[in-house]
Amino acid sequence: MERLQKVIANSGVASRRKAEELILAKRVKVNGVIVTELGTKVSDNDVIKVDDEEISREEKVYYLLNKPRGVITSTKDEHGRNTVVSLIDESKRIYPVGRLDYDTTGALILTNDGDFANMMMHPSNNIDKVYVAKIEGILLPSEIMSLKNGVVVDGVKTSKAHVKVKKIDKNTNTSIIEITIHEGRNHQVKKMFEAVSKKVIKLKREKIAFLDLKGLNSGEYRKLSHKEISKLYVLAKEK
Ligand code: URA
Repeated sequence: MERLQKVIANSGVASRRKAEELILAKRVKVNGVIVTELGTKVSDNDVIKVDDEEISREEKVYYLLNKPRGVITSTKDEHGRNTVVSLIDESKRIYPVGRLDYDTTGALILTNDGDFANMMMHPSNNIDKVYVAKIEGILLPSEIMSLKNGVVVDGVKTSKAHVKVKKIDKNTNTSIIEITIHEGRNHQVKKMFEAVSKKVIKLKREKIAFLDLKGLNSGEYRKLSHKEISKLYVLAKEK
């Protein structure tokens, strides 16, 4: 038996405090009956509804992983390769939000919350992703402008991007470029550079919105807080 407000909070509908408010506001039903007493105990078999919608009883979990190279962004791999899911010690069925290529490293969110995943992946959202790419060659000013204003990838123009040249190495004829996009099309960054005839040698996603990789070595992960998840919801809905 668990406290009703805890069960509601675990379902991802609201924080613990907000769940208490929902109960006091008579918006919560247990087995069809409005419950207003905080601390009411419920079991796994009780049907709990908030605003007449049944809540999911599986606790929602959210992780930020610093994905290593050589791991696939999938829940399973037919060829027995390591997957991002296998790196996380979690018995619930989690899956990655969007994807990073086999050889791309960096920030990746994993969750069992389908609504959250859909919201994060929706193309119209406002979630910036910051990538750092090592490329062959040196970008011309006109190529930087093209990347910023949009290049044609798979027949469709990419939306506006921020592009910063971080380093140029004339000896090895390579550059380090930071590029910020909010779309998440397949191999988008590599294809954007391809559109200006540049090859990506290394790619890392350094940030998803305000989430960076501070404190996470390659292969390490942490849980996202309630506050971080709500902030992502707010950002995703901003236009
Ligand atoms: N763009 C790419 O090309 N690859 C990734 O892994 C992510 C973005």
